[in-house]
Amino acid sequence: MSAGLLLVGASGLAREVLAACAVGVVGILDDDAALLGTSVGGVPVIGGIEAALQREERLLVCVGLSRGRRDVVRRLRGLGVADARFATFIAPSASIGATSSVSRGSILLDGVVVTADARIGEHVVVMPNCTITHDDVLEDFATLAAGVALGGGVTVGEAAYLGMNASVRQRVMVGAGATVGMAAAVLREVPPGETWVGVPARAAEVLA
Ligand SMILES: CC(C)(COP(=O)(O)OP(=O)(O)OC[C@H]1O[C@@H](n2cnc3c(N)ncnc32)[C@H](O)[C@@H]1OP(=O)(O)O)[C@@H](O)C(=O)NCCC(=O)NCCS
Repeated sequence: MSAGLLLVGASGLAREVLAACAVGVVGILDDDAALLGTSVGGVPVIGGIEAALQREERLLVCVGLSRGRRDVVRRLRGLGVADARFATFIAPSASIGATSSVSRGSILLDGVVVTADARIGEHVVVMPNCTITHDDVLEDFATLAAGVALGGGVTVGEAAYLGMNASVRQRVMVGAGATVGMAAAVLREVPPGETWVGVPARAAEVLA
């Protein structure tokens, strides 16, 4: 496998990864044909997602929304891309406690702090200045927007999305596929697939 890296998705997240000093990025893959041959964040867009099959570099999927990212990863896997090809990106300024783990495909941007015994799954995205504390679990494809703070023992389910500056009380679960609005304070379990907003956070029925 080549030492280089391809970003999948010519997104704002891809530019944030580049701005956070990702090294060895040789190209971007995006299905938008209008982007082919253009440059995003100083890196050329060299083809659509299927071009991954003609290349050898490792891949970092830069799709900001949880479910969209999961769709792209599933598509790549369906095309025969092995999990070993997915890279992980941790910005140099992120701090990861020695007893915490970050799995393949995940992206942690500048200023993220992960303290003790936290587990971050595959293809999770953690945007700048999030705080993940002891015993937290982020299941695969979860997304924390900038400034999210999790108390200890919180679980964020698969492909859940927490908006900017949301906070979650210790030992509370956010269900798979749930959305938590910007600045919400989550005090009790958010059921799977629901959207909760406000302080204290409540189900936003009309948004579902
Ligand atoms: C909660 C959220 C998903 C709802 O988005 P939406 O479905 O497009 O909903 P709308 O913007 O149409 O708002 C619908 C209602 O919810 C309210 N609302 C939206 N976001 C809210 C929030 N974070 N807290 C409280 N109320 C909120 C709106 O005021 C509106 O209320 P109204 O019907 O009484 O006027 C969205 O506002 C949000 O918080 N997204 C996260 C954004 C983010 O963090 N982005 C990071 C990008 S890197």
